[in-house]
Amino acid sequence: MSICARLKAGIETRSAEETRSIAAEWAAGLPADATVALHGDLGSGKTTWVQGMATGFGITSPVTSPTFTIYNVHPGTLRMLVHLDAYRLAGVAQAEDLLLEEFLVSPWCLAIEWPEKIPTWIPPDAWHLDLEVGADGRHHVRLR
Ligand SMILES: Nc1ncnc2c1ncn2[C@@H]1O[C@H](COP(=O)(O)OP(=O)(O)OP(=O)(O)O)[C@@H](O)[C@H]1O
Ligand SMILES: [Mg+2]
Repeated sequence: MSICARLKAGIETRSAEETRSIAAEWAAGLPADATVALHGDLGSGKTTWVQGMATGFGITSPVTSPTFTIYNVHPGTLRMLVHLDAYRLAGVAQAEDLLLEEFLVSPWCLAIEWPEKIPTWIPPDAWHLDLEVGADGRHHVRLR
């Protein structure tokens, strides 16, 4: 089964490393102008997923949560990654002030944590992933 088909069915990951590895494999096949909206509660693995995507893009700089910087830019050999954490954004108007449209075209890939803070800003062709931790403590990821 392709990585996309597996993700649509939903994958349980047993470690952060496994999450990163799946994210890297998936990201390597993404179009060059992809926007990825990462839905999920605190600690569900959104930043961990972006770390894996970065590896898939040939990025070697460390990817950490941009909660205080709002977004971080990571140049890679295969793609440029922008990692946005919308958690602290007041709303769509503030997102518009960031002029993120620049990052919606090739070779930029925009990964967004807490996309529900800026729902009307998210481009209609964005990929949506749902991450969650089950009652048993296991992490799951599913592509909508
Ligand atoms: N299978 C797994 N997949 C992802 N993360 C896992 C897994 N197992 C354990 N973890 C741990 O869960 C935590 C996930 O944290 P992460 O920062 O990625 O979440 P987040 O969704 O970005 O949270 P926040 O909303 O605070 O930004 C990390 O400490 C990671 O090591
Ligand atoms: Mg995070």
